[in-house]
Order: sequence, then structure tokens, then C-alpha cells
Amino acid sequence: MLSSFLVLGLILPGLSSGMSTRRSLQVHETRGDPPSGFTFTGAAAPNTVLTLRFALKQSNSSGIIDALYDVSTPSSDNYGMYLSKEAVQAYMAPTNKTSTAVNAWLSENDLQATSLSGAGDWLSVQMLVSTANDLLGANFSVFTNSATGQQAIRTLNYSIPSDLTDHLDLVHPTVSFPNSVASAPVIEFLPSQLTKRDDTGPCNVSLITPECLQWLYEIPTTPASHGIELAVPGYSNEWPQEAYLKTFLERYRPDIDADTTWDLVTLDGGSDPQGSNSTSVEGNLDMQWTIGLATNVTVRLISVSNISIPTGDEFAESLIDTASYMLDLDDPPQVMSTSYGVNESQVSEKLALSLCNSYAALGARGVSVLFGSGDGGVAGIQYPDEDCTTFNPTFPSGCPYLTSVGGTYLVPEAAAKFSSGGFSNVFERPSYQESAVSSYVDFLGSTNQGLYNASGRAFPDVAAYSVAFDVIYGGAEGPINGTSCATPTFANIISLLNDELVAAGRPVLGFLNPWLYSTGVDALTDITVGDNYACSGFTTGFNATVGWDAVTGLGSPNYPKLKAALGL
Ligand SMILES: *[C@@H]1O[C@H](CO)[C@@H](O)[C@H](O)[C@H]1NC(C)=O
Ligand SMILES: *[C@@H]1O[C@H](CO)[C@@H](O)[C@H](O)[C@H]1NC(C)=O
Ligand SMILES: *[C@@H]1O[C@H](CO)[C@@H](O)[C@H](O)[C@H]1NC(C)=O
Ligand SMILES: *[C@@H]1O[C@H](CO)[C@@H](O)[C@H](O)[C@H]1NC(C)=O
Ligand SMILES: *[C@@H]1O[C@H](CO)[C@@H](O)[C@H](O)[C@H]1NC(C)=O
Ligand SMILES: *[C@@H]1O[C@H](CO)[C@@H](O)[C@H](O)[C@H]1NC(C)=O
Ligand SMILES: *[C@@H]1O[C@H](CO)[C@@H](O)[C@H](O)[C@H]1NC(C)=O
Ligand SMILES: *[C@@H]1O[C@H](CO)[C@@H](O)[C@H](O)[C@H]1NC(C)=O
Ligand SMILES: *[C@@H]1O[C@H](CO)[C@@H](O)[C@H](O)[C@H]1NC(C)=O
Ligand SMILES: *[C@@H]1O[C@H](CO)[C@@H](O)[C@H](O)[C@H]1NC(C)=O
Ligand SMILES: *[C@@H]1O[C@H](CO)[C@@H](O)[C@H](O)[C@H]1NC(C)=O
Ligand SMILES: *[C@@H]1O[C@H](CO)[C@@H](O)[C@H](O)[C@H]1NC(C)=O
Repeated sequence: MLSSFLVLGLILPGLSSGMSTRRSLQVHETRGDPPSGFTFTGAAAPNTVLTLRFALKQSNSSGIIDALYDVSTPSSDNYGMYLSKEAVQAYMAPTNKTSTAVNAWLSENDLQATSLSGAGDWLSVQMLVSTANDLLGANFSVFTNSATGQQAIRTLNYSIPSDLTDHLDLVHPTVSFPNSVASAPVIEFLPSQLTKRDDTGPCNVSLITPECLQWLYEIPTTPASHGIELAVPGYSNEWPQEAYLKTFLERYRPDIDADTTWDLVTLDGGSDPQGSNSTSVEGNLDMQWTIGLATNVTVRLISVSNISIPTGDEFAESLIDTASYMLDLDDPPQVMSTSYGVNESQVSEKLALSLCNSYAALGARGVSVLFGSGDGGVAGIQYPDEDCTTFNPTFPSGCPYLTSVGGTYLVPEAAAKFSSGGFSNVFERPSYQESAVSSYVDFLGSTNQGLYNASGRAFPDVAAYSVAFDVIYGGAEGPINGTSCATPTFANIISLLNDELVAAGRPVLGFLNPWLYSTGVDALTDITVGDNYACSGFTTGFNATVGWDAVTGLGSPNYPKLKAALGL
């Protein structure tokens, strides 16, 4: 699919291929090999146009983390006192010295930057492959994913001028690789040997309905009424259909106006055409299972990119732009639920840190950021994975400043096999989970030793039901399995709790983890049965057990208990 790129002889005005100045370069990011699945195909055509993103060093990125914990830790004096857009942007904005230095370098090479974010920390610059190779001492090449045929132009390393290392954080896309599947919603299929046990109440059904989850987690049907909003990003041309939502609401929520729909925001050519007989499972799941459960919470679909256009469907770019969009709002939706992810190994450490910091910034604004943990057990984002020789954590679940949601099934609940969990190789274990996770590492003893990184940030944080959800899409219907089901389920509950907090004149929950791992923990139902998939070649993944575990985290939600834990 080389046609997926803006290619071949196209010269944009202002894109000269001549180099005027040469500074001394220093290697900035490098990877030894392309990630598993991708192979080198050939040099990228010199006259291909690349759109590169430059992240400038933020003036005080560590200050954002301090601010985040200050407003998110229940014992802090400033708990719930979230920062304004301007206050967070002041931390994120590069200094004048930084902006001036980077812009001077670009302009001496006849390149022009466009700012991509309100804080000015992300720039976009178009240039030819030949210019990029020269400017960045790079070797932009075409890499092909053998399984999918997907092609990507990447370089295994690049350099920047030595006098810019304090100013330029990273350039993307360079050493981070895209999804190896065209569409990577976190959805996976359970093998048939997993069968129901002890089903009870309205959950004794072959298709899970809102009524089942309302019963299981005691979720109220009372409409929220304080303008609470839930942001749901949609990537990979996942276009939900109003007609399917209407059918879903008529069938399962006759108490809700069947014409209820979502607010649409589009970024980077994203869209949501109706009447296309869309087969989008993820997109329709996300709308039906938020609007159908978070009664009268306004759902805002952020539809990003169009995979049919050149350079579309770049997951990291979609994440960067989604976070910038949210951070540029004066009043962002209080919860964001994302059911997409990649292998951590596909993302460079600098890019992972940068994106993770944007979730910290959102938390400092009072936004609860939730991501699905992935559907490959310990083997990465999807199962089966023939290639993993050590456990393969997912991104962005390894980021400590968001809440990662794993999956359960059955009543009473057990861990779902596909529920991804484990330990980041990039992010250290944060202090809020020190006690919970060190107990689990002790429990493991020698099991799986050497296959996972015991010092890393451990995930998931929590879990929710994730099997056999009814989803109406494209003439077909569920059952759908995956942490894609669990993530909106947990996000709905946080949204409804936020409504009750606002009703009581209190701030919303914001970044959840310091609360969940302390006073919130007793309000969760500990899942102690089951385990997750291993890498092929190993016999065991991680076991669920008493307390935190690397399959179901602290456990699944219970609405009345969470409410009580908040003193509501
Ligand atoms: C960064 O922010 C923290 C507060 O969050 C502050 O204590 C520190 O002085 C700031 N550093 C700089 C260089 O502005
Ligand atoms: C940074 O630049 C802006 C204009 O670009 C200017 O208004 C501001 O005073 C400058 N700040 C410093 C500290 O130089
Ligand atoms: C570019 O990378 C490819 C693949 O690693 C390699 O075969 C080729 O020699 C490299 N070219 C240069 C100029 O380094
Ligand atoms: C950069 O990548 C090229 C292949 O494209 C390789 O030959 C070279 O050794 C790499 N350099 C570093 C510092 O990793
Ligand atoms: C989801 O899991 C259930 C239970 O194992 C199974 O019957 C169903 O076929 C799965 N759904 C899909 C789409 O594979
Ligand atoms: C579940 O439903 C089936 C009929 O569909 C019934 O035979 C079975 O007894 C029920 N199980 C429980 C635990 O209610
Ligand atoms: C739904 O929420 C809005 C505020 O967002 C409120 O005005 C309206 O009354 C609520 N509807 C119901 C039925 O409570
Ligand atoms: C996506 O891009 C393709 C190719 O440019 C275009 O034909 C199509 O109309 C776009 N789809 C939407 C829904 O914007
Ligand atoms: C995740 O990484 C594994 C290698 O560890 C690879 O086999 C698999 O294809 C990757 N998945 C995706 C979606 O890229
Ligand atoms: C393990 O995780 C730490 C961060 O906690 C990281 O610095 C280290 O490089 C990781 N080790 C491996 C082998 O990836
Ligand atoms: C994990 O659970 C299995 C099945 O119950 C058990 O055989 C195994 O010993 C457990 N592993 C650990 C480390 O507890
Ligand atoms: C939608 O597509 C399905 C097959 O995917 C087909 O059965 C159904 O008739 C289509 N509906 C419409 C309205 O075109």
C-alpha cells in the first residue's frame, strides 16, 4: 500500500531540496531493528513529501506531574483544585529561547512550521525525504508489515543539531512504528472453551445487555443532569451510526429518548458519515455502550483521521492531536474513554514519555483518562502473538498518569483470558501502586521471572465486564468481546459519579489512580479467579489473585460502594 503515502514527484511550493546550512549533528533516537512484523523494503523515494512533527521541550514538564499529584491525591490540601487551561499551557509551552532556536534552524533550511497545539509545544513541518535525510542525518526507508502488507516510511535513527538537544524533544514519525493492523481497536475473540458458569439474574443471557451491567454493578438509571460530558475518541475510520444506536436504545433503554445521539468533533480529516451501512464494531460499540449506560451524559465523539487518505491512520499522531484538542478546551469533557492501543515496543521512549505527559496534563485539568489494557494477555495488543519471547506490555496503558481497564467475564466475575496486563519497560512503578504491586511481585515469586520488568509501572488498574456485549452494526450483531467493552463501562460509572459530585457542589474525580489505590480500593470487587494468555511458547501468563493483579488490577466497580467511598 505504498499508495497510502503522499508520493511521487509532487513538489509543494516552498519545499526546496537544496540544503543551505549544515550543523553538527548528534544521534537523538535510535532503534536497532524495526519492531516485529515490519521488514525493510527499500529506500524511500527522495521526492516523497513527509509531514514531520517536532515536539519542543516544554518549559516545565516535571511541574505538570507535581501539579497532577497535588490535585489528584486525596490527602492533598489541593485535592480537586484543578488547573485552568492557561495554567497547564504555561507548564507545557516551550520557552521563547527554545522556540526561537528551533525556528531559526528550520528557517535557515527554508522550512516553515505550523503550530499544532495551543501551548505551542508541537510543530508540523513538511519536507521532502531527501531534505529530511539530510537535515536529520536519517535514512528514511519503506518498511512493510509482512502480515498486513501495510507500508510505512520510517528511519531506524535520526540526529539533531547538538546545540538543539535542550530544545527539541523528538521528531515523529521516525523510529516509532504504526499499528501493524489497518484497524486496531482493542477487540479480540475468545476461544470457545471459555464457557459461562453460575450465571445469575439478568446476566444469564447469551448477549450482555445494559440491564445485566446495571444489575451486576448496581448502576443507576437516573439521568445525569449537570452537563457531564464523556469524550470518546474514534480512530481507524470507525464511524458509528445513529440508526444502530436508535435500535439499541429502543430495545434496551425504552426510558431514554431513542433519538439521543452524540456530539461530533472531527480532527485531521476525521468524519462520521451516516447511512453507509457501517460495519464499524468499535465505533458502534463505543456509542451504544456509553449513551446506553451513562444515562443523559453527553457523549462527544472525537473522530480523528481518515485511513483512506495519504498519511492517515497514524495512531501516535491521532493520540497527539486528540490530547492537544482536549487540552485546548476551556471546559474539557470530564472523562475520556479510549479503546485503542499498540504494543509499547512500537513507540519510541521519547514519544511514549511525551504522550504520557499529555495525559498528566489532562489529569491536572481534572479529566479522568481511561484506556483499554489490550486484548493479548501478556503477549501485547492482540492475541495470538507468535513472536513474543518476553512479555509484551501495551501502550499507552504503561503510562502511570491514566487508568488502564482490563477485562472480566462470568458471574461472579473471573479474569478474561485476553485481558492484557503486565509491566511497562519504559515507565517506572509510581508510588501510588508501590504497595499493591510489590505484594503481587512477592506472590509471583519465581513464576515468570525474567519475562517481565518488575520495576515497571504495572497495569491494568481496574477491570470490568468484557465478553459477549450486544453491539448492533452493519446488518450484524454481537457478541463482542474485548477490553473495548470494559473501558466505556468503567468510564460510564465515573461519569455518573461525577454527576453526583457536581450535584453535591464538589469537584469531579479527575485522575483516578491515587484515589483508587487508597480510599477507593474497598469500593472495588477484587477478582481472584482466572489468568491471562501467555506468549506462545510459555505456559502461563499472569494469575488473578487476592489484591491487585496483572490481569484485573484492583477489581471491578460497584456503584453504591464507590458512591459511599466518596461520602455521597
Ligand atoms: C516547575 O513547576 C513546579 C510546580 O509544579 C515549580 O515548583 C517549579 O519551580 C517549576 N520550575 C520551573 C523551572 O519553573
Ligand atoms: C516571549 O515572546 C513573546 C512574544 O513572542 C513576548 O510577548 C514575551 O514577552 C517573551 N517572553 C520573554 C520572557 O522573553
Ligand atoms: C538504510 O537502511 C537500510 C536498511 O537498514 C540499509 O540497508 C541501507 O544501507 C541504509 N542506507 C544508508 C545510507 O545508511
Ligand atoms: C542508523 O541506522 C543505519 C541504518 O539505516 C545504520 O547503518 C547505522 O549504524 C545507525 N546508526 C546508529 C547510531 O544507530
Ligand atoms: C465472545 O466470547 C463468547 C464466549 O466465549 C463467544 O461465544 C463469542 O463467539 C465471542 N465473540 C466473538 C465475536 O468471537
Ligand atoms: C440460566 O438460564 C437458563 C435458561 O436459559 C436456565 O436453564 C438456567 O437455570 C439459568 N441459570 C441460572 C443460574 O439462573
Ligand atoms: C439531562 O441533562 C441536562 C443537562 O446536561 C439537563 O438540563 C436535563 O434536564 C437532563 N435531563 C433529564 C431527563 O434529567
Ligand atoms: C476519506 O478519504 C477518501 C480518499 O481521499 C475520500 O474518498 C473519502 O470521501 C473520505 N471519507 C470521508 C468520510 O471523509
Ligand atoms: C505486537 O508485538 C508483537 C511482537 O512482540 C507482534 O508479533 C505483534 O504483531 C504486534 N502487534 C501489533 C498489533 O503490532
Ligand atoms: C525496565 O523498566 C525500567 C523502568 O521502570 C526501564 O528503565 C528498564 O530499561 C526496563 N528494562 C528493560 C529490560 O526493558
Ligand atoms: C496460577 O493458577 C494456576 C491455576 O489455578 C495454578 O496452577 C498456579 O500455581 C498459579 N500460579 C501461581 C503463581 O499462583
Ligand atoms: C448492510 O450490510 C449487511 C451485510 O453486511 C446486509 O445484510 C444489509 O442488508 C445491509 N443493509 C443495508 C440497509 O444496506
